[in-house]
Amino acid sequence: MKTVKKLMLVTGLFSVIFLSACVSNNESSGSGKETLTFGTEATFAPFESMEGDKVVGFDADLLDAVMKEAGLDYEFKNTGWDPMLVGVKDESLAGGAAGITITDERKETYDFSAPYFEAMQTIATTEGTDIQSAEDIKGMKIGVQNGTTGDSAAQQLVGENSTDISKYESSAATMMALQNGDVEVVITDNGVAQHYVKNNPDANLTLIDDKDSFEQEYYGILLPKGSEHKEAIDEAMQTIMENGTYEEIYSEWFEGTPDIEALESAQP
Ligand code: ARG
Repeated sequence: MKTVKKLMLVTGLFSVIFLSACVSNNESSGSGKETLTFGTEATFAPFESMEGDKVVGFDADLLDAVMKEAGLDYEFKNTGWDPMLVGVKDESLAGGAAGITITDERKETYDFSAPYFEAMQTIATTEGTDIQSAEDIKGMKIGVQNGTTGDSAAQQLVGENSTDISKYESSAATMMALQNGDVEVVITDNGVAQHYVKNNPDANLTLIDDKDSFEQEYYGILLPKGSEHKEAIDEAMQTIMENGTYEEIYSEWFEGTPDIEALESAQP
């Protein structure tokens, strides 16, 4: 009897030690799989916004489908824009999904997944405007989200150090500034601007597109340079584009049908 009890105690102790060894391997979950943390800036509906403490939107659904297809465990956190960029760079984050445009400059520091969405900058301003093209906003107070392609577009238009450009930390802050009259126009991504104008009819906003002044952009999932997950993520992206999952997600958040062929052949 005594030996049996001792044995039970010893086995019990061993399993405690064994279990805690598993748990203490910090990023591993019980399944032994790593949980990859992705960051975002969740004031960018319909791509990402907060519903309670959950990030929801096209990017959230897309990331979920891609990670499931790739067989990777992940969590999606509203880190804010700059912390996301810093975190993916220093690899404290496994990636970012935030309507992030694939640019040559960013490619020097990061890797991107295959492109998953087409976008372009647009000008948001108050209804009744005389603005017809990007040229017309020279001399006006321009709001942008700091460090975005809208920021670059504004700099290209009115000069890198122009005091006419006001920079905000989130996408939502730019639209607030426009509504408060702190700025006269906002340069931002068309999908987000369209969604905002439609959902805030009382703001009396309108959009001016200018395909000659703004470049075609493509969103990709942001990854650390040399990410070991890029291949699996790209393969999963291709699979969900070809098996109808992408289209299903797209139609939950947008009208019309996506041009999957154009996305698959895009080389941003
Ligand atoms: N597409 C733009 C860029 O990559 C803006 C993205 C902003 N995203 C956000 N979640 N606030 O620079």
